[in-house]
Amino acid sequence: MHPGKSAARPLMRIEVERRHIHRLLNHGPVTMISVAHAGRRNVMAAAWVMPLDFEPPKFAAVVAGDTFTRELLVASRQCVLHAPTTAQVELVYAVGTTTGRDEDKFERHRIATSPARTVMAPLVDDCAAWIECRLIDEPGIDQRHDLFVLEATCAWADDAIFESGRWKFAPGGRRTIHHEAGGRFFATGDMIEVRR
Ligand SMILES: Cc1cc2nc3c(=O)[nH]c(=O)nc-3n(C[C@H](O)[C@H](O)[C@H](O)COP(=O)(O)O)c2cc1C
Repeated sequence: MHPGKSAARPLMRIEVERRHIHRLLNHGPVTMISVAHAGRRNVMAAAWVMPLDFEPPKFAAVVAGDTFTRELLVASRQCVLHAPTTAQVELVYAVGTTTGRDEDKFERHRIATSPARTVMAPLVDDCAAWIECRLIDEPGIDQRHDLFVLEATCAWADDAIFESGRWKFAPGGRRTIHHEAGGRFFATGDMIEVRR
């Protein structure tokens, strides 16, 4: 299957309650970050993205200085964080190993998108979760650490695998992914629950 090709399954995107937004990335999956500004758009892979606060829900993201994504992020002060699935692993690797500076990755990889509610950056279809964000001012951390603080403006999840604030990954079903290095990924594993 082409990396960007949509699955046959219809999109079932539900809005995530603000108090549950941090849980979309709390288990540490690799993300994709989409951005748009002044008629340009882009998407890249980003493994170094983590929750930073509950309310308002905030995330920290490392976005390297030479990426086109960073240019559009800084210019637009908005982005969408995505939690892609195992079916999108080739797409994640493709958008993480090429730059969108000279070509539109959405066209090149035939990435299907939907409009976001609060930002101009597009939602990449068929992900497990989407977090629309605005960039928060934290002077200096971008220059010193390539670090950006993002506040969620709203978030969405695939209701087949995220329900009432909980991931429910089933055997053989859709799962989020984790990056090790050099194109090697792991699928999110089985749930282990500690009884209180
Ligand atoms: C799985 C994976 C994870 C990545 N994680 C990050 C990351 O957390 N931060 C970062 O700056 N680059 C990361 N990269 C590299 C960018 O995705 C890469 O530099 C990309 O080509 C930038 O594209 P752009 O120039 O179109 O923005 C990652 C790449 C891969 C394949």
